Amino acid sequence: MIFFFTGTGNSLDAAQQMATHFEDQLISIAEAIHQKKFDFELKPEEKIGFVFPVYFWGVPSIVADFIAQLKLHNYHNQYIYTVLTCGGSVGQTHRLLSKMLFNKGYRLNAAFSVQMPDNYILMFQINTPTEKVPEILNSARKRMHEIMAVIEKQGNFPKLLTKGATPWIYTSFFYPMYRKGRKTKPFFVTDSCTSCGLCESICPSKVISLKNGLPTWEKEQCTQCLACIHRCPEKAIQYGKRTIPIERYVNPVLK
Ligand SMILES: Cc1cc2nc3c(=O)[nH]c(=O)nc-3n(C[C@H](O)[C@H](O)[C@H](O)COP(=O)(O)O)c2cc1C
Repeated sequence: MIFFFTGTGNSLDAAQQMATHFEDQLISIAEAIHQKKFDFELKPEEKIGFVFPVYFWGVPSIVADFIAQLKLHNYHNQYIYTVLTCGGSVGQTHRLLSKMLFNKGYRLNAAFSVQMPDNYILMFQINTPTEKVPEILNSARKRMHEIMAVIEKQGNFPKLLTKGATPWIYTSFFYPMYRKGRKTKPFFVTDSCTSCGLCESICPSKVISLKNGLPTWEKEQCTQCLACIHRCPEKAIQYGKRTIPIERYVNPVLK
C-alpha cells in the first residue's frame, strides 16, 4: 500500500515506479481526504509507503492532516517507509513524519529521499532550469532503483537520505514559516485565463472555485503544492509579480 501526495507530479512519478516494481496499490492522499476515507486494512506482510514532496524541510500540511486521521487496521509492526521527493535536501522531514506516525502507534522503519526538479518558484531563485530537468529525472530514476532494492529487503540505508547540512536548523527555522505563512492572498489570475477549470479540479486543498469563470482562492491558506500555477495551460495563474517571468514545471507523468 503506497500513500502518495503530489503537486506537480514528481512524487506520483516516484510512487508509480514503486507501484509497478512491487505490484502494489497507490492511494492518493488528496482523494482519500476528499472521500473522507481514513480506514485501511493491512495484510500481514504488507509494506506501507508514504511518498510526498518536502515543503520547507518538513511535511506538507495535507499529509500531516491525513496522518492525524489515519487508521491502519491489523497493524502488527509491518514495515513502514517513506520516500521524500525534494529539490535538494529534506532536513528533518523524516523525523517529523516519524513523530506523527508514532503518535498514532505506528513506527517508521525507513526513510529515503530522491532529488527531483525543484518546483518552488515563490521566493528564492531555486527552481530547476528547464534544460536541467531531463538529467535530474534520469538520476532520480537510478536513485529510485537503489531505494527500491533496499525496500525490497525491508531495510533502511541512511546514505539514501539526503538531509543536507544542519538539518535541524533548516527544519526548525523554516518549517514554522510554512505552517503559518502559506497564504493564498497573493494568488491572482491574468487575462490569459480561458476559464477551463483545470485549477479548480486539480486543487488538492479544494480552495479554488470559478467565480464568473475566473479562479478565486476561497480559504486563507492552502497546502501550497503550486499545482495551479505550474499546471495552468495558459500560465495565467501568478503568485505576486515574481512568478510572471518564471518557467513552469510539470513532471512528464502528468502531461
Ligand atoms: C512550498 C514548497 C516548499 C518546498 N520546500 C522544499 C525544501 O524545503 N527542500 C527541498 O529540497 N525542496 C523543496 N521544495 C521542492 C519540492 O519538494 C520538489 O520539487 C518536489 O519534488 C515536488 O514534488 P511534486 O512534484 O510531487 O509536487 C518545495 C516545494 C514547494 C512547492
